[in-house]
Amino acid sequence: MTTNVCLAGATGWAGSELARALAASADLALVAGRILGDVLAEPRLACPVYASAAEALGTHCDVFVEYTKPASAKGNIVTALDHGAHVVVGTSGLTDADYAEIDAVARVRRRGVLACGNFALTAVLLQRFAEAAAKLVPQWEIIDYAHDDKIDAPSGTARELAARLAKVRSPAPTIPVDRTVGPRETRGATVSGSQVHSIRLPGYTISAEAIFGMPDQKLTIRHDSGSSARPYVDGALLAIRKVSGLLGVHRGLDAVLDL
Ligand SMILES: NC(=O)c1ccc[n+]([C@@H]2O[C@H](COP(=O)([O-])OP(=O)(O)OC[C@H]3O[C@@H](n4cnc5c(N)ncnc54)[C@H](OP(=O)(O)O)[C@@H]3O)[C@@H](O)[C@H]2O)c1
Repeated sequence: MTTNVCLAGATGWAGSELARALAASADLALVAGRILGDVLAEPRLACPVYASAAEALGTHCDVFVEYTKPASAKGNIVTALDHGAHVVVGTSGLTDADYAEIDAVARVRRRGVLACGNFALTAVLLQRFAEAAAKLVPQWEIIDYAHDDKIDAPSGTARELAARLAKVRSPAPTIPVDRTVGPRETRGATVSGSQVHSIRLPGYTISAEAIFGMPDQKLTIRHDSGSSARPYVDGALLAIRKVSGLLGVHRGLDAVLDL
């Protein structure tokens, strides 16, 4: 059976790599995402490009993939759910509150939403290993590194990591952050209870680091991706194939991985 996929952001850096992989997948058909093949120089992509997600969703699709910008993501996702599609979210920058709203719509519509701030397998493993560490080590902080023109901070990967660690326990800093002597901002932002420090500089691509500290010992778990969008493709394809088995919002690719 073929799954019809609508891809918002198909001409972008991450979306175009995924579009090419969809073109090579026998069980997945890109139905909306000018003719995309012309834009991406991929003749197998014969589907049209639409100006908005709502217009694209006029074409029947089973799975809508959101890979645009934080400002447009939530509207696109809700529109897709209203059109009866399951949704895979790659766009970063949505908050816990956004996901709570999306979850409510998805449950009413009986549809699944799989949101993954980073589809790269090594980022998924970072999240899983960090959860294991948080069970044993009570203090940690998160550092999120990205290129200077990344508009949102912290990254989706860092937000997701903080949200997941919050489910394990709250970190217990020796000096609570609000008792900092000096500029409070130097201690980073408190995101889902974790201190998160976002670095935005030329020379970085995307990295995320969780540092766990105990007296006289520490553990650093770090994911780095290179300059291509290749690391995100396999995870996104897996999410597209599995999302219809979910109900409501699930965050993190391991919702559909056997880890
Ligand atoms: N989850 C992951 O593994 C992962 C991996 C990489 C990136 N990301 C995230 O994915 C998002 C996209 O990243 P990118 O680097 O691919 O960005 P990008 O190269 O700027 O591409 C953005 C795409 O979205 C389209 N777009 C922008 N506004 C839109 C709107 N209102 N409605 C419909 N389409 C719209 C753009 O089309 P036009 O060019 O025509 O405006 C373009 O195709 C970011 O949030 C990024 O952080 C996530």
